[in-house]
Amino acid sequence: MKYSEKISGFEPKENAVIMGIETSCDETAVSLVRGGREVLADCIISSAPRHAEFGGVVPEIASRAHTSAILKAARSAAVEAGLSLADIDAVAVTKGAGLLGALLVGVSFAKALAFSLSVPLVPVSHIRGHIAAAYLADKNLKPPFITLLASGGHTAVLDVKDYYNLEVLGRSIDDAAGEAFDKVARVLGLSYPGGPNVERAAAGGENNVPLPKMLSHYAGGEFDFSYSGLKTAVINYVHGKEQKGERVITADVAKSFQCAAIDVLIEKAIKAAEMRGRKVITVSGGVGANGYLRESLEKRAAENGIRTVIPERRLCTDNGAMIAAEGYLQYMAKNFADLTLNAEAVVPLGGIR
Ligand code: KG4
Ligand code: ZN
Repeated sequence: MKYSEKISGFEPKENAVIMGIETSCDETAVSLVRGGREVLADCIISSAPRHAEFGGVVPEIASRAHTSAILKAARSAAVEAGLSLADIDAVAVTKGAGLLGALLVGVSFAKALAFSLSVPLVPVSHIRGHIAAAYLADKNLKPPFITLLASGGHTAVLDVKDYYNLEVLGRSIDDAAGEAFDKVARVLGLSYPGGPNVERAAAGGENNVPLPKMLSHYAGGEFDFSYSGLKTAVINYVHGKEQKGERVITADVAKSFQCAAIDVLIEKAIKAAEMRGRKVITVSGGVGANGYLRESLEKRAAENGIRTVIPERRLCTDNGAMIAAEGYLQYMAKNFADLTLNAEAVVPLGGIR
């Protein structure tokens, strides 16, 4: 019987073990999650140190690193969970968005594994994966809620109406928040990945560098963001100081930028929750690993009677568990792919089901 015929009659089961595979950027991540909520294993092999000397991810290096790491990551995940491959009920994989060559490694591996085990292959949106990390952080979390999405590629506020229906309330009209962190890191001479290094530098600094407030009252869309002006303001400030022969206090610039970049995210997420009458805000994406964001969102939300669900740092940045969590939702809805599945570099926000 052909694979597609076998899978077409497949009935999902509630406590299925899903393997989640994520290779969209520089992390080769494989995880096993039971029932969409319980992380049994979470293996991440990062090629970040190999990109550091170039100041950003080099796609070809990332793809090759995935090729050599993927089998090891899958085996480690099975060992960590104390399971064999035969215990896997479905294979979920990031279809996009991301680096095409990098994505293709995960997609090809997932296809081969799903075929050899005769289990469903579940394509997952990377962004929906980030959002689903909240279901791992709070096992009782149910939509509706507002999510604040801030990663290297996307910045948005979304209304998660139910497990499948997302409404984008606002988004960045130019750079993403994480991208701005990475660019500011570069101008400050901090190494890749920029976000954590800016946060570290900011720890000893003062918020005393005048920077523009971004789109706090933007006519185009109340919940939209813009990071390119803020990034340029930081670059101009640093270059201006250097030209005058004045010392740049890295910690102060990092702290001031961090506050400007994050305060607006928090205020808009809270406003969105109020507008929609939502009682919970979750955090999705790599910038969610930032300590200042985590603390101030919790505090500001609590002041407004809103509960927060902020996944642990490891679940905010790229990982396989979030892909398995979202994969579980798609698996329950029988949104399976056949072996013609392809990767896509660009996936619309809220896309893939
Ligand atoms: O979600 P993610 O791991 O990958 C994408 O889907 O893009 O996000 C990566 C982004 C990078 O821009 C990185 O600099 C940023 O998240 N990031 C942080 C922190 N950790 C990662 N930004 C600020 N503070 C952090 N601690
Ligand atoms: Zn990501």
